[in-house]
Amino acid sequence: MKLQRNSRLVVLTGAGVSAESGFSTFRDSGGLWEQYDVNEVASHEGWLRNPSLVLDFYNSRRAQLKDARPNAAHLAIAALEKQCRVDVITQNVDNLHERAGSTHVVHLHGELTKVRPESGLYERSGSEQEVIDVGYESVSLGDKAPNGRQLRPHIVFFGEAVPKIEEAINLVEKADVLLIVGTSLQVYPAAGLYRYAPMDTPIYVIDPKPVPLIDPRVVFIQDKASTGMEQFISQI
Ligand code: OAD
Repeated sequence: MKLQRNSRLVVLTGAGVSAESGFSTFRDSGGLWEQYDVNEVASHEGWLRNPSLVLDFYNSRRAQLKDARPNAAHLAIAALEKQCRVDVITQNVDNLHERAGSTHVVHLHGELTKVRPESGLYERSGSEQEVIDVGYESVSLGDKAPNGRQLRPHIVFFGEAVPKIEEAINLVEKADVLLIVGTSLQVYPAAGLYRYAPMDTPIYVIDPKPVPLIDPRVVFIQDKASTGMEQFISQI
């Protein structure tokens, strides 16, 4: 399969694509979920129990993002827009795809640089109009939205719905080529997205570790994201 001007490439990324920018992944040895309890800092119940702890966790990740730079993999994905339509679906909450120049990015799990008012026990995903861009600033308990409610990270916590999943499915259904980079495919619904790709769509997977994907469409490139992207581009 060669990419042509009217081809649609859909790229699904996870923490591994940002590893070479200095971000820890979640489930690798030494990863974030070894250092923090996911139930405390990234779940709906964790937020209700101890919002300060959750705000601090995301404040420190936001501060880290300020000094991070897109790496060769982000840049290579963005550069493919010169060849064809490229849609990036990312599980990452950083903005490194955008800073590398990608113009169509769907953030499945939210965005670090944004916050929104909390809506109580039965948290809704919040309307786009309520979302506030805080850039790299810290947010504290007592910081309120214009509607008087506490600001919370614009992040999909475990236990919450994934509002952008339908948009992502629609993109994958139209993919001529699907490229998956740096995700362990452990977290649903993102992990099941590849199943929506058309039957004749090749699925390239870049990861230094084998990813347990049983699908005849898969072409596995066992490499880190930067050099894996070079291999992908030479094959496509
Ligand atoms: P994981 O930490 O589960 O998986 C990261 C993947 O990246 C693994 O398969 C690694 O082998 C691979 N990897 C490591 N270094 C790499 C490199 N240099 N280049 C390419 N790949 C590399 O992270 P995700 O699959 O992204 O959700 O995790 C999915 C979700 O779980 C996250 O979005 C987050 C987390 O909990 C929320 O917080 C809602």
